[in-house]
Amino acid sequence: MPGKKVCIVGSGNWGSSIAKIIGHNVKASNRFDPIVSMWVYEEMIDGRKLTEVINTEHENVKYLPGHKLPKNVIAVPDITEAAKGAKILVFVVPHQFIGKLCDQMKPHIPEGAIGISLIKGVDEGPDGLKLISDIIREKLEIDVSVLMGANIANEVADEKFCETTIGAKNDANGHIFKELLQTPNFRITVVRESDTVELCGALKNIVAVGAGFCDGLNCGDNTKAAVIRLGLMEMIAFAKLFCKGPVSSPTFLESCGVADLITTCYGGRNRKVAEAFVTTSKSIAELEAEMLNGQKLQGPQTSAEVYKILQKRNMVNKFPLFAAVYQICFEGKAHADFTCKANRPPCPRLPRSQDIKGYPGKRRQGEGGGTGFTSFRGHKELPRVPMGELGLAAFTSARLSSSSPRPILGAFIGTRPSQPSFVFAGALVRGKEKQEGTGGEGVAVKAAVVVAVAPVLQSGGEEEENLAGSLAVALHINMG
Ligand SMILES: NC(=O)c1ccc[n+]([C@@H]2O[C@H](COP(=O)([O-])OP(=O)(O)OC[C@H]3O[C@@H](n4cnc5c(N)ncnc54)[C@H](O)[C@@H]3O)[C@@H](O)[C@H]2O)c1
Repeated sequence: MPGKKVCIVGSGNWGSSIAKIIGHNVKASNRFDPIVSMWVYEEMIDGRKLTEVINTEHENVKYLPGHKLPKNVIAVPDITEAAKGAKILVFVVPHQFIGKLCDQMKPHIPEGAIGISLIKGVDEGPDGLKLISDIIREKLEIDVSVLMGANIANEVADEKFCETTIGAKNDANGHIFKELLQTPNFRITVVRESDTVELCGALKNIVAVGAGFCDGLNCGDNTKAAVIRLGLMEMIAFAKLFCKGPVSSPTFLESCGVADLITTCYGGRNRKVAEAFVTTSKSIAELEAEMLNGQKLQGPQTSAEVYKILQKRNMVNKFPLFAAVYQICFEGKAHADFTCKANRPPCPRLPRSQDIKGYPGKRRQGEGGGTGFTSFRGHKELPRVPMGELGLAAFTSARLSSSSPRPILGAFIGTRPSQPSFVFAGALVRGKEKQEGTGGEGVAVKAAVVVAVAPVLQSGGEEEENLAGSLAVALHINMG
């Protein structure tokens, strides 16, 4: 049986580095056709077409100078010609170009084709988050895996050792891509949580912009480490809120998670341009044009997409670092404020018992007895408690179960003093069912309905009252 044709869609810095690997690997396996087509966005370089330069000198002199590409990688300027008959598609273009390219490719994709996206970015769809792999999957109707990791393109092209992660919903396809892409110096782990892997790749670029601000402001390594840590917390929280599939902590320990975050915050182009943004006061667009020689930035644009998604969900204040990066890049907020803006705890910290026990508020008979959050009218004294994992889970489940567009107001978590091991959590949705004034000063909640309680509140007559107290606390915590 003839080997399957491979088409690389893209030929920038990363696209050309990966073409170098693929060109060598296809020759060593009879699973693949030994001729690889690489779609190149045509441009003129010193009076010659870039495709012509690549096909004669076997070097992408603009995006990966100094590295020879294997001769079996053929540059093709027409996307339909490049993709025709290809059963293995490798997508590696800046994310803003992917939709149009897929539309052009669609009539030429054979039955049974599969794809992998190396693209770092997200889009905003009518339901909130839209992953780039979702766009490809929907437009081409093929299975799509992703590859993300601590992979600065020039270092991969130099064959310096690194690791990377393939996220594959279809395990067999993940392993086909592993065979296509792995080398002794480019080590691949295949995991199932494809959406988490992809989100890590997109979101870390926002954090890298923050790290670049720190460098420009001369904050020092400790502050930068704090920004990276807070950024990781927001990445996890965002993934838990917005991924449709499961999101588990071990995925963040793969190359796509913490390793990519570190390398990008020290070595990548987003960090570099953000540093210059602070030291020169030029706009992001000007710096991208001046400093990157045609390469594209992803961090600022991803921060804009993420900000829109958060705004829609009323959650901007839960992601202070992501929000600050966007506001500084695009809304003229002072970058000098960056560290104090980022210096607020993001939402995903697990609540600790000292957060919720021993609250000094005055206990009032019948006003929420269960949690220690008893005197909601004295809510000014309440401690600020992060939402916590359970609250977050309840929030997510409320979001899924409530019929949109009912706004979600917040989530809560509490314990009973008499039974400290009994933890409950819920989420609040504004609805018509009840008219119940539960708010403290300045917080008018006309109706709050508990839509998700985990674990479900157990028997007992006090619970209604407990909930009233908890609702007020939740509002204080999440809206205050
Ligand atoms: N460079 C890296 O170190 C690296 C590493 C991992 C992932 N990535 C990701 O890979 C993706 C591609 O990045 P890259 O580094 O290969 O590209 P790049 O930023 O180096 O180059 C930009 C590419 O866009 C093309 N282009 C310009 N205008 C276009 C248009 N109108 N339509 C279509 N294409 C156009 C250019 O020809 C060029 O190939 C990005 O999502 C990036 O985040 C990059």
